[in-house]
Amino acid sequence: MSGQNPTTSKKTWANRWTFLLAAAGSAIGLGNIWKFPYIAGQYGGGAFVMLYLLCIAIMGVPLLMAETAIGRHTRLSPLNAIKKLTSDLGASKLWGIIGWMGMLAGFLILSFYSVIAGWSLSYAWDIVTGAFNGMTTDQVGDAFGGLVSSAPRQIFWHTTFMLITLLITARGIHKGLEKGLQVMMPALFALLLVMLGYSMLETGQFMRGFNFMFSVDFSKVTGEAFVAALGQAFFTLSLGMCCLMAYGAYMPANNSIPRTAINVAALDTLMAIISGLIVFPIVFAYGLEPSAGPGLLFVSLTAAFVHMPMGELFGFLFFVLVGIAALSSAISLVEPALAWLIERTPLSRTVATVILCAAIWFVGLGTVFSMSGDLTFTLFEKNFFDLLDYFTSNILLPVGGLLISVFAGWVMKRSTMMKELGLSVGVFNLWRAMIRVVVPLCVLTVLITTLF
Ligand code: PFF
Ligand code: NA
Repeated sequence: MSGQNPTTSKKTWANRWTFLLAAAGSAIGLGNIWKFPYIAGQYGGGAFVMLYLLCIAIMGVPLLMAETAIGRHTRLSPLNAIKKLTSDLGASKLWGIIGWMGMLAGFLILSFYSVIAGWSLSYAWDIVTGAFNGMTTDQVGDAFGGLVSSAPRQIFWHTTFMLITLLITARGIHKGLEKGLQVMMPALFALLLVMLGYSMLETGQFMRGFNFMFSVDFSKVTGEAFVAALGQAFFTLSLGMCCLMAYGAYMPANNSIPRTAINVAALDTLMAIISGLIVFPIVFAYGLEPSAGPGLLFVSLTAAFVHMPMGELFGFLFFVLVGIAALSSAISLVEPALAWLIERTPLSRTVATVILCAAIWFVGLGTVFSMSGDLTFTLFEKNFFDLLDYFTSNILLPVGGLLISVFAGWVMKRSTMMKELGLSVGVFNLWRAMIRVVVPLCVLTVLITTLF
């Protein structure tokens, strides 16, 4: 974000790369590297991946454009943007719910996101200190069990991650972070390519992993897989919670929104697909289960790092870079609620950040204790973490996206959106038909058929 105080300064970013970097920084994170392989594994591979790619293309890209355009048009924080637009356009004040849901989603997502990012930091530490040296694959699996069954260890790393997020957010030093990201995102990408090389050349199971991801078993195209794919598409693109609206407020007027949206979606999707192509061949080579759940990335990659030449170095770098990718996403998750607190209460930026992060940290303990088995509460056979994840990704974000698309398509003036998007009439009409009809209908159909 720009300058010292990104929430109130209405300056725009210096050039078109800065917005792309910030949006990609928000999009690329645990969703791609940790969540995509684990959810794809749980829903059986190819069928899920196909539905996921469909959701990205049909709903993700048009919505990315809509959110960014609304943000840039108003240059306000999401909740105030919606408020101003509804009063200017004479629309119902109820649309403000979009902003409220976005703040809630960001709050709840970050509470568990931080715990998983903490796992990554814990792995970086354990790998570099040699804790995994000489372990068999079974022992690597047990070590993961050891981490998640220990509440104190998880709390330590969860706290560390939230403290780093707090420091960067409170001091408004996103700019410094973005400088760092210019180096670290390409480094993460390069490391993913190294790991991809390992999966291709060393596991002997690359084609099996590839087929798992891309051959579609149509009996697995179920409503449940569809809602999971929809939720994952929104989660991975940071959609449906006004995060890109907040970022769009700083985008220079001469940037092309459609081009940026396509670039962000393409980069994000590429990272997810590569992660899958790394994880599944390793999973098959080491006799692991694709449906193993949230530990999939950690167990499979660590099993590989143990066997790789220079595995300690690669493993350490990998998990640190995943932590940093998570950090740039975490900052965007706090932003909507923080912007609101600063605009609407007398709190200073620092105090608002501390209160917000402390509350998020506290809710995160629920995820820690449900992982460690101390919190045994379940509902619909889901524990606290599963419920939070399901409710945010599969309900809050899609419903938020649905409302944003209706707002952008039916409430916003056609001429405003046309000017922001800068498309030719034909392509614009196609976008508008998608955002008015296709996106809302698809989201509604998926939600209704699976939830009721
Ligand atoms: N897109 C991020 C990821 O894939 O890890 C997670 C995320 C960030 C979701 C910001 C939503 C959001 F607003
Ligand atoms: Na993502």
